[in-house]
Amino acid sequence: MKKLFQEVYPFTTEYISGEFEEIDFKGKKVLTLGSSSDQAYNAILLGAGKVTVYDINENVSKFGRLKRDIITTTPRKKLYSKVTGIKEVPLSGDLFSEKDLRQMNPYMSSEENYKRLQELLLANPDIIDYRVGDITRLNLDEADKYDVILLSNALQYLDLFIDKDKDPYEELRRIFNELKIHLSEEGFLQLLYIYSISKNNFTKSTVMGSTQSILNVVNALRPNILSMSHFTNKSTNNEDAIIYYKR
Ligand SMILES: C[S@@+](CC[C@H](N)C(=O)[O-])C[C@H]1O[C@@H](n2cnc3c(N)ncnc32)[C@H](O)[C@@H]1O
Repeated sequence: MKKLFQEVYPFTTEYISGEFEEIDFKGKKVLTLGSSSDQAYNAILLGAGKVTVYDINENVSKFGRLKRDIITTTPRKKLYSKVTGIKEVPLSGDLFSEKDLRQMNPYMSSEENYKRLQELLLANPDIIDYRVGDITRLNLDEADKYDVILLSNALQYLDLFIDKDKDPYEELRRIFNELKIHLSEEGFLQLLYIYSISKNNFTKSTVMGSTQSILNVVNALRPNILSMSHFTNKSTNNEDAIIYYKR
């Protein structure tokens, strides 16, 4: 199969400012997807102790080191142009404006937050470690436990990753149960990020992919209880949401 997602997203495509409202990161060990590393930077800003970026994109660790070095040496007003100017790895053109990203990304939203992130990264340059992997075929040591697991919107593409003869909801249950093994007591697992949630997400229809139907996802993962948090994405003026599981 052709490798998917090998271009790096220079910055987040999620409205992290809303998404992270429900999550306590203080002193927590975090596992996150997201080739931009923005989930990781914001988790660190909000107090995370250690972050692993686990992403299918093989260019993510190289990009992450370059972006970290740009953040620690560049004023906030030059960040966007420097990061989007990176030539060493292929970058995705799926990119919000600098103005939007300042709303989406807490670490870009003020001089104070940006300076705080710079200090945290300088004090602990290896606070993020990078692993290449497919979330649908999890490759972690059994003993690895995380307090917060963030899947970005990767499960939106579940149908592309699973074998064609498999039932997507059985596969979802398998993936969920594997992730649960790595979730610490009282852990938080962000399962889905829904861009522009609407009534279509509350029917059984799966035109846009199996996990677009929250109803089917909830049914597939019973008796585990899923919760939803929704927030206004001020960059798109849509209501976005996360579906999560808490131990
Ligand atoms: C559509 S992008 C969204 C970008 C993301 N918001 C960010 O900040 O980088 C989805 C992200 O999930 C990753 N991804 C998608 N499917 C994956 C999978 N099966 N396993 C691991 N990573 C995956 C992609 O490489 C990409 O970083």
